[in-house]
Amino acid sequence: MAVETVQSAEEKKKFVRDKFASISNKYDFLNSLLSLRVDRYWRWVTTRELKGFPEGAVLDLCAGTLPLALELTRQAPKRTVVAVDFCEDMLRSGLKSLPSDERRNRIGAVCGDGEEIPAASEKFWGVTVAFGVRNLARTEQGLAEMYRVLKPGGKLLILEFSRPRNVFFKPVYNFYLNRVLPKVAGLVSGDKEAYEYLASSIANFYEPEDLLAMIKEAGFPKHYCRPLTMGIVTIYIGIK
Ligand SMILES: C[S@@+](CC[C@H](N)C(=O)[O-])C[C@H]1O[C@@H](n2cnc3c(N)ncnc32)[C@H](O)[C@@H]1O
Repeated sequence: MAVETVQSAEEKKKFVRDKFASISNKYDFLNSLLSLRVDRYWRWVTTRELKGFPEGAVLDLCAGTLPLALELTRQAPKRTVVAVDFCEDMLRSGLKSLPSDERRNRIGAVCGDGEEIPAASEKFWGVTVAFGVRNLARTEQGLAEMYRVLKPGGKLLILEFSRPRNVFFKPVYNFYLNRVLPKVAGLVSGDKEAYEYLASSIANFYEPEDLLAMIKEAGFPKHYCRPLTMGIVTIYIGIK
């Protein structure tokens, strides 16, 4: 079952915040390297799901170094993004490398907890979370908050790692995730433990059906998911 049963919520939050702080300067480079830049495609596909909401504010939760926030502003010139993350170093690192065009004026970074979102209820047409839900200490609490801040009719988009099921691809992927990735990422980032955590958090995360059931339970009457790239990641969609 989920990691949250093993550690207390506060312990997990501290661990996660510290780990992301320690790799914040290398995060973007390693993402591109380790995914061979396929992560950009995943964020592009996720953001496209919001094409029905080209104006107004979107909340990007667990925004990290702001790659999804940037894609959200790139795809819609009238959209603004409130980017929330509880790791200040990740946000700072993202802000430092924002392109010097007008998009930087449409992204507001806020240091805050996704389990107590610092925003009024029914404020956003869209809430996005890329590779963040797996890191929450209390998944249900986070989903309830995402529901609260969405306007009725608004859309929740969660992009998250899942586990490939194809019998041929699965062992190859597992070898890469458990053996290759922590070594390479450990050498580059200087924090092998952070990438061992990545592998174990993927292994321990919910099955897509279970996360979808939790999204339904959080109040989303319409909900579905879509695997990408042999099921390495899945996009979950909830409509309030
Ligand atoms: C893997 S990074 C994802 C960053 C970015 N969304 C992306 O697409 O690359 C996960 C982020 O979630 C943040 N995070 C984890 N738990 C959080 C929480 N409870 N509240 C806010 N941010 C959280 C971490 O600080 C980290 O920056």
